[in-house]
Amino acid sequence: MRRATVLGLETSCDETSAAILRRGEILGHVILSQDEHRLYGGVVPELAARAHLAVIDDVVQGALDEAGLELHAVDALGVTAGPGLIGALLVGVCWARAAAFALDRPVVPVHHMEAHLFAPSLEDPQAHPPFVALLVSGGHTLILHARQWGDYQLLGQTRDDAAGEAYDKVAKLLGLPYPGGPQIERLAREGDPSRHPFPRPMLRGGQSPGDPDYLDMSFSGLKTAVSARVTEVVREDRLEEERAHLAAAFQEAMVDTLVSKTMRAVEITGCPRVLLGGGVSVNQALRLEMARRQGGEGRLFHASPRLSLDNGAMVARAAAFRLERGEVGDAEFSAQAALPFPGLVE
Ligand code: KG4
Ligand code: ZN
Repeated sequence: MRRATVLGLETSCDETSAAILRRGEILGHVILSQDEHRLYGGVVPELAARAHLAVIDDVVQGALDEAGLELHAVDALGVTAGPGLIGALLVGVCWARAAAFALDRPVVPVHHMEAHLFAPSLEDPQAHPPFVALLVSGGHTLILHARQWGDYQLLGQTRDDAAGEAYDKVAKLLGLPYPGGPQIERLAREGDPSRHPFPRPMLRGGQSPGDPDYLDMSFSGLKTAVSARVTEVVREDRLEEERAHLAAAFQEAMVDTLVSKTMRAVEITGCPRVLLGGGVSVNQALRLEMARRQGGEGRLFHASPRLSLDNGAMVARAAAFRLERGEVGDAEFSAQAALPFPGLVE
């Protein structure tokens, strides 16, 4: 098979990652997470770009070494072209374009969220369309109906904050370090969610499928509700004793909203197969609640934590799909901070 060995590169946020994929098998994979952002409580775009630049050569070399290959053995390159932080994206895109030029190989611009959609299929051959996908990351929250690879119907999305962004902001309010998702999940296990009843945004009884907010989501109000409650609790000098309860209550509202919206999409489409993707899909409470609400009907797909978070293997996998269809980047393609999801149909 031509172009069988693909190098995938991911630098859209704060992970520098490269993977070598051959016919669906990961031969080498390095993921380097930038830790310095902890000092500032969130990702600092300029720092992220510089850190990618400092390590990208070594990260690619590490993946090649693990695969036991030289760079010239690569048949094609795939790189996250967007959406993401523009300076960070540019590091990967410039590296990939330069290497493709030097090696005379095709390079495929990959949409970061489509890459997340492909991640579970790296571990489970059954994780292919049709499925309803809930994609939940630090920058995006989408519900899609994937009828085939490359053929997606956008059913719902957040109108403001992404789910991961809400986790990170609430963690900050509770005095927890970045990234907040894993911190909140851990703390929530010790908390009682019923002590702080938070709203389920855009989720009400009596909504019907024609309503514009039936499948859309909104998390900025939930974050504001947590913020108001934290202010009260701090005023009463009880943050220490309430922190775990606040984390549990926030997570319950978030998970209930995400799962309810996804189950509505399952009902509307009649498609019982559900796929979870993106960094927030690592969350056990989300996975368990989704499985519980499916009630044994249909299948639930998600990747292992390593492949759910940002990584180069999912980028290589998405690139391999686009390559098969002959979709390679033209000479001028560049990074785009806001890149539309590919393959959307009405
Ligand atoms: O997909 P990802 O690695 O990067 C982006 O594309 O944004 O997702 C990162 C997001 C962060 O907001 C992080 O807090 C969240 O995923 N996250 C989690 C968990 N692990 C990571 N959220 C909830 N529970 C987790 N266990
Ligand atoms: Zn991501």
